[in-house]
Amino acid sequence: MPETEPLVGYPDLEDAERVRRAEAFEATMRTRRTVREFADTPVPRAVIESAIRAAGRAPCGANQQPWTFVAVSDPAVKRRIREAAEAEERAFYGGRAPRDWLDALRPLGTDATKPFLETAPWLIAVFGQAHGVRADGGHVKHYYVKESVGLATGFLLAALHHAGLATLTHTPSPMGFLRAALGRPAHEQAFVLIVTGVPAAGATVPRIDKKPLSAIARFVTDGEPAGDTPTGNEPAVG
Ligand SMILES: Cc1cc2nc3c(=O)[nH]c(=O)nc-3n(C[C@H](O)[C@H](O)[C@H](O)COP(=O)(O)O)c2cc1C
Repeated sequence: MPETEPLVGYPDLEDAERVRRAEAFEATMRTRRTVREFADTPVPRAVIESAIRAAGRAPCGANQQPWTFVAVSDPAVKRRIREAAEAEERAFYGGRAPRDWLDALRPLGTDATKPFLETAPWLIAVFGQAHGVRADGGHVKHYYVKESVGLATGFLLAALHHAGLATLTHTPSPMGFLRAALGRPAHEQAFVLIVTGVPAAGATVPRIDKKPLSAIARFVTDGEPAGDTPTGNEPAVG
């Protein structure tokens, strides 16, 4: 039997208070947008540390916590990452990307130039660990690495947004250069690069739609048929 401890953190709330809290969080998350123009305003390391700790509380396969977050504020390292990312992105936009992919990206106005990789105060490279390493050097297989790292990254984005910071979820394609640039071991695979900081004054974002609840959810309740699979309502962009 595993050792147990009392569960804390689930207060006995009235339904109305639960609805209020859910809607307040929804209102916060409604204002999250992917930002591609950053100010060079410094952000305290304590904010980044706290957001990473929050990310580290995400559920994960067999509690293996198969993630490493590398937070970079060193200008020389940010410059190296920018140079390597732009080299990959030039190849991507200049012919490696299939036409359909480029068509999907066109409304976002993205291209191979990534000044935010130097302007933003922090880059957080998120790595997934294919396996763990025991004290004796042996390997421990990790389960559900991508799912777990994806959930942790979601927690990270929510924590940074909650702290009033803008984020860009960046996936230079391919991302293999990040392992070398940050000196990570071979069993760590770059998952995503989160750019974070204060948005530039006057920053704009693409006008996009989000699907309504009716297009992304089906409720299976007493006396209500499950209905069809949510389809349609493709947002114009994004
Ligand atoms: C896995 C993933 C990879 C992404 N890669 C990039 C990227 O490389 N460059 C970029 O500008 N945006 C990237 N994005 C951001 C999406 O374009 C953005 O989330 C989407 O257009 C919706 O906009 P919103 O985040 O403002 O709601 C990525 C998002 C995700 C989830």
